[in-house]
Amino acid sequence: MRRLLWLVGAGAAVALLVYLTSGAPDPDAGRRIYREGILPTGEPLTAVVAGDVEILGTQFSCESCHGRSGMGTSEGEYIVPPIAAQFLFVDSPQPLRPAYTAESLADLLRDGVTPAGRQVNELMPRYRLTNEDIEALNAYLETLSAGNSPGVDDYAIRFATVFSEDVDPAEREAVLAVTRRFFADINSQTRNEGERWDRGYTPESKLPTVYREWVLEEWTLTGPTDGWGEQLEEYYRETPVFALVGGLSSRPFGAVGRFCERNEIPCLYPGADLPEPSPGDFYTMYFSRGLGLEADLVAQDLDARPVGKVVQVYCAEGPAAAAAELSQVLVTRSVAVENLRFDCSMPLPVDDLAAHMGGGPDVAAVLWTDESQLDAGLDALPPGRIYLSSTLLDREAPASLATYSGTVFMAHPFLLPGAPDPAFRRFKLWAARHDLEVTEPRLQAQAFFSCLVLNDAMKHLGRFFVRGFALDMLDHTQGLMAYLPIYPRPTIGPGQRFLSKGGYILPVVDGQIDTADAAWILP
Ligand code: HEC
Repeated sequence: MRRLLWLVGAGAAVALLVYLTSGAPDPDAGRRIYREGILPTGEPLTAVVAGDVEILGTQFSCESCHGRSGMGTSEGEYIVPPIAAQFLFVDSPQPLRPAYTAESLADLLRDGVTPAGRQVNELMPRYRLTNEDIEALNAYLETLSAGNSPGVDDYAIRFATVFSEDVDPAEREAVLAVTRRFFADINSQTRNEGERWDRGYTPESKLPTVYREWVLEEWTLTGPTDGWGEQLEEYYRETPVFALVGGLSSRPFGAVGRFCERNEIPCLYPGADLPEPSPGDFYTMYFSRGLGLEADLVAQDLDARPVGKVVQVYCAEGPAAAAAELSQVLVTRSVAVENLRFDCSMPLPVDDLAAHMGGGPDVAAVLWTDESQLDAGLDALPPGRIYLSSTLLDREAPASLATYSGTVFMAHPFLLPGAPDPAFRRFKLWAARHDLEVTEPRLQAQAFFSCLVLNDAMKHLGRFFVRGFALDMLDHTQGLMAYLPIYPRPTIGPGQRFLSKGGYILPVVDGQIDTADAAWILP
């Protein structure tokens, strides 16, 4: 009897294995075809365009035209139709066609013929796909943007704004004031729409409308950054949100980015000093690479004007990570680097730094410090070259180096001092109209921009609250760039996750930032 049971059990296991390895279509494999153009065999997809030209599908993945969300786009006069589940697997009125099945999807993908018998236009490639590939794609498309994303119900849509606990309380309040006020504005408009909608119509019109209240959750991250992922998951389990907006952190931000990518949550323009992107990130959008970009600007400058040795000084975690990035680059270029980490509760160790710099002018020091750490005594340093971080110094040259006998430069990934900044002026007007004090110009203007972007994305969604769609739309909103304050030469497009990609190395002369010969550097 026992033997018989064992046989039955083994038989079931084998059956399951057979089912898993051959039978069931695999939506994960379908996702890979859709997003990356990679087949389950690991080979790239083959697309046939213009009748008979074969092209590798990694450049012609479905996503590249239909979007991450499958909600489609319009490119100039061409319309790429939505192929998300809620469109594909239902009868379509316009153009008229029945719902797709795996079989009719095969006809479409291989031969370009819709279930209504219409030959689709040449923009839609024809593909070489096996039945198994098509079933995997079909299984994935059945899940793709099938309903609203988490964080939305009939009455409200929730967003979170994330702060790390090390952020100065005054900065946090200043940024929150902007975000809260923006949300209040949206909700007062929404309420009016709601009333207008209700007035004098049938009872059904009092049912939930497309207008939803925006609710702002405030999430605070504590302790070491490796605990942040779990804290975020906990907040998210408690209260699912549709997107993250704004927020502030001077610590390395990778844990937040990874949380967003893992849960496919748009993470829109946090005030993060140090984003830590991973290749292929889609859900996280930043102003710039922050301190990482500054490290690249310094590396580039050191390439043009080499020195014998580089000494880096830092205490906090964000600057430490930026210093590590710069060390890595310099080491590959055979530049000697010495790193000097001090305790953030102590003053900058000037004597130690002087000893590391030695006597020669052939040394550069990179001071990854803020204004409060740059105290007296710095002008006694040996006459080498000093690089400073404009992010950490809040875009101001420090007084403590005004009489230094060497040369001083600032890595500056922002608009040049004195350059016109109409987007910032617009923010100031908005703040004045709302009786908001501007105490942290850069951080508050950034928070305002992140809200503008969110609002733009939400407006484009219409009644489809699909996160991937929000980001697909943003990839195509060049117009928003005119509203970006503080940052130079923004560009946006599919796959780009940093609005501003370059910056300047600016000399500091007599305590003043000199922009006369400023050259744009794109590392
Ligand atoms: C180069 C851009 C491009 C790529 C890449 C692309 N498509 Fe399309 N697709 C289109 C366009 C444009 C149409 C509309 C053609 C028409 O209706 O005449 C379309 C139509 C479709 C339709 C028909 C929709 C309907 O309502 O009948 C489906 C299904 C589809 N595509 C799926 C896919 C899948 C799956 C992939 C990847 C394997 C893919 N497409 C890759 C541009 C593209």
